[in-house]
Amino acid sequence: MKPAERDELVRAALEAQKHAFCPYSRFPVGAALRTADGKIYQGVNVENASFGLTLCAERVAASTAVAAGMRDFAAIVVASRGGVSPCGACRQFLAEFNPNLPIIIVDSDRPDAVKDSTLNVLLPARFEGPT
Ligand code: THU
Repeated sequence: MKPAERDELVRAALEAQKHAFCPYSRFPVGAALRTADGKIYQGVNVENASFGLTLCAERVAASTAVAAGMRDFAAIVVASRGGVSPCGACRQFLAEFNPNLPIIIVDSDRPDAVKDSTLNVLLPARFEGPT
């Protein structure tokens, strides 16, 4: 990704974060996923009174891309207070489409301080299906 594309993706995640539905945790998370053809798909966490039904921002972004016919994931930015790392369930979910996906973690209070990682580092031994 070129620096301008990366900035655009960071901005998209920060913009999405404003739309998070998180009345229970009060912890908004925004995600922006770039697909190989350069398109951007956003996601937010969507909470529910039945807490276990909560959807994470990363899985919403990935599902939105898949619903649009996109399966070739190039990079994802995740924005939250403090810049938290994607949960284990989301790592497994994203690895289905790209086990080496670049992951850019942004602290929404300090958007210039981004952390770079990749999914193979965050999830080194994913479940690849029944043998
Ligand atoms: N959350 C995400 O959206 N992504 C993550 O990777 C970690 C957690 C959300 C779920 C819940 O709405 C809130 O953050 C607090 O756990």
